[in-house]
Amino acid sequence: MDHSSGGAIGETPYPPVFVGAMKEELDALLGRYPTKMAALLPTLWMVQRERGWVSEEAMVEVSQELELTPAYVKGVVTFYTMYHQHPVGRYFIQVCTTSPCGACGAEKVVETLLEETGCADLGATSPDGRFTVIEVECLGACGFATPIMVNDEFIESVTPEKVSQILSQFK
Ligand code: FES
Repeated sequence: MDHSSGGAIGETPYPPVFVGAMKEELDALLGRYPTKMAALLPTLWMVQRERGWVSEEAMVEVSQELELTPAYVKGVVTFYTMYHQHPVGRYFIQVCTTSPCGACGAEKVVETLLEETGCADLGATSPDGRFTVIEVECLGACGFATPIMVNDEFIESVTPEKVSQILSQFK
């Protein structure tokens, strides 16, 4: 695959993700799937692991690698909250605010998280680069409101009073 066609967008040169060892890893990954399209989710995951988020340029690169349209790739990226479409903090916090958790005070948990992390708003990153907080739909732990996820770590029964102690674990 020739990366040069997607190498520069606007004035900032875009360094391709899939070169060298990353390209070898992608080729090995593709060998395990029946079609290139079937490997889209793990390919996007590789991008996020490498860059921390999935930029528009990366979506174009992935579309070239997997022989898909950029619109298709973007549709998948925007469907899943696990893919970041802009840079996020080192700790990405997802808070369930669906009705059952909402009835148990999830909004207050969100408010406290925003206050104590210093994030100006949902989706914004704290000035120290540590945290980004977003609201998500049901995390599947409705009996343990309010559940949150900090990166891959699942934490149940979060209350505003517990927020400070929880955040202190994530430096
Ligand atoms: S509604 Fe919050 S975890 Fe299900």
